[in-house]
Amino acid sequence: MRILLSPDATGAGVAAAAVIASSLGDRPAPVLGVATGSSPQPLYRALADRVQAGLDLARATAFALDEYVGLPVDHPESYHSVIAREVIGPLGLDPSRVHVPEGVSADPVAAAARYEALIAAAGGVDLQILGIGANGHIGFNEPGSVPDSRTRVVDLAPRTVADNSRFFDGDAGLVPTRALTQGIGTILESREIVLIAWGESKADAVARAVEGPQTAELPASFLQRHDRVTLVLDAAAASRLSSASLPVDAGR
Ligand code: F6R
Repeated sequence: MRILLSPDATGAGVAAAAVIASSLGDRPAPVLGVATGSSPQPLYRALADRVQAGLDLARATAFALDEYVGLPVDHPESYHSVIAREVIGPLGLDPSRVHVPEGVSADPVAAAARYEALIAAAGGVDLQILGIGANGHIGFNEPGSVPDSRTRVVDLAPRTVADNSRFFDGDAGLVPTRALTQGIGTILESREIVLIAWGESKADAVARAVEGPQTAELPASFLQRHDRVTLVLDAAAASRLSSASLPVDAGR
């Protein structure tokens, strides 16, 4: 895994946007995988600046990683709403090319299969943006998720419900307890992955993802199987990595 270090979250966002812009190059119609939550917000702000400066994503296709099950699409914290607010608008994406799992479907199992088929029909994901949960989840693949898992309905871990209560007025009782998420196997099929993490609360998960054994107990550790992963970290998120994992110029 390639690791890029920035002093703070804003810098990590700028660095991640640079990686993405350079990877996309002049590809006219890339397929992006997009995460929600706090982690990618500085990245989306930096990418939006690049869009203002001429980066054209109007023909990009995008697939969200996940969506809460049962939360109305128009709830401000549904990932449909978050993606519209933080991704589609600022990045100038065409809403008709942006997909989010149908968490309100009466048949979420069928919705999961449809989502996999849509990704396949788009030719797969060129570049997947990820955050990481404090418990090492990617997407909502909580501890226990196996590396060949596909898009499916999952139960959120109590830690994730507690962490995400900040988006629901601090009330864990308002956080949905199930989600539709791309699987680890789905994520690992993307051709390139950029994971952004910042803040001390991610330091342990980051260190175990990079340096620990590949284990379902820390689902992000399966990213070690992918040969094109860049982790863009701020100093706090990188603070528990051993110096052997850090870029040679880190700290100079
Ligand atoms: C969001 C997602 C999750 C988050 C993770 C970190 O689409 O798939 O894996 O990336 O829960 O959340 P934040 O960034 O809010 O700390």
